[in-house]
Amino acid sequence: MSLSLVSSGKVRELYDAGDGLILMVTSDRISAFDVVMAEPIPDKGRVLTAMTVYWLEELADLAPSHLVTADPAGLPPDAAALGGDAGLAGIAGRALLVRRAEMLPLECIVRGYLAGSGWKEYQATQTLHGTPLPPGLQQAERLPEPLFTPSTKAAEGHDVNISFDDAVDLVGKEIAQRARDLCVEAYRRGAAAAERHGIVVADTKFELGFIDGELALCDEVLTPDSSRFWPADEWKPGTNPPAFDKQPLRDWLEASGWGKTPPPPVLPDAIVAETSERYVTAYERVSGRRLADWYGAGR
Ligand SMILES: Nc1ncnc2c1ncn2[C@@H]1O[C@H](COP(=O)(O)OP(=O)(O)OP(=O)(O)O)[C@@H](O)[C@H]1O
Ligand SMILES: [Mg+2]
Repeated sequence: MSLSLVSSGKVRELYDAGDGLILMVTSDRISAFDVVMAEPIPDKGRVLTAMTVYWLEELADLAPSHLVTADPAGLPPDAAALGGDAGLAGIAGRALLVRRAEMLPLECIVRGYLAGSGWKEYQATQTLHGTPLPPGLQQAERLPEPLFTPSTKAAEGHDVNISFDDAVDLVGKEIAQRARDLCVEAYRRGAAAAERHGIVVADTKFELGFIDGELALCDEVLTPDSSRFWPADEWKPGTNPPAFDKQPLRDWLEASGWGKTPPPPVLPDAIVAETSERYVTAYERVSGRRLADWYGAGR
């Protein structure tokens, strides 16, 4: 039996592994300005996977998760076919066997700082996802409290920011409250750990789903792709701090004169290498673990 492809996103492929299981393979693809670059970023898939597993372990007392195993030896036999010529080694460290969840139709965003679309909304209406905020806040300013600011999960196009009441309309009051409490606490823990290591987690997005009647953490957790990481020493209210992971890439793309529509320009090796290094650093700093100790090292 070969694994059938369930979905292919900008970053991950999902395969049906039977028995209510999914094989989630995270690629090394990177997108900037919503365009996927042609060049893979070495180790990016392993970093996102290792980081997610780290956080699912750290947060295990808070909520169950979809994780079954990251150990290549525990993957279905057919998984080796997905690793190309390298076989199982080709996906080791970036493949997770997970339980299929009934996903909530929400992106469970938590914001600790005022950035991105949140900053835009605040400037226009002094609110954040409809909730009034104190006057006079600056871009990138720390919020008095982390706020649960969900959005819809658009199949196509951009997700739409919604209020807590809108989330209640979508999933019911009880589930919306549980999702909020779980995600705010997970953000608090992640942000505190990252802060100790010189990284600000400005905001992050969780995806929750029901597995056997329980609300579980799914998808990826507190990674540079699902979060806005800033170098703490470059964070200053009133400015737009650089993204910890993609800054070299975005700076280079901006300077290249590229029009931000496909096809993307060919990336210089140095930019690819620097970006890869950023991802590895983010993982190692936040988790205190070494990527060399994670599955799939040394390929
Ligand atoms: N345990 C799970 N059961 C079912 N679906 C899941 C589970 N965990 C994650 N998913 C879904 O798998 C997909 C992950 O793929 P990926 O991150 O590449 O795509 P995306 O985030 O939907 O889209 P894109 O990244 O292209 O904007 C998401 O749609 C996510 O909701
Ligand atoms: Mg995703």
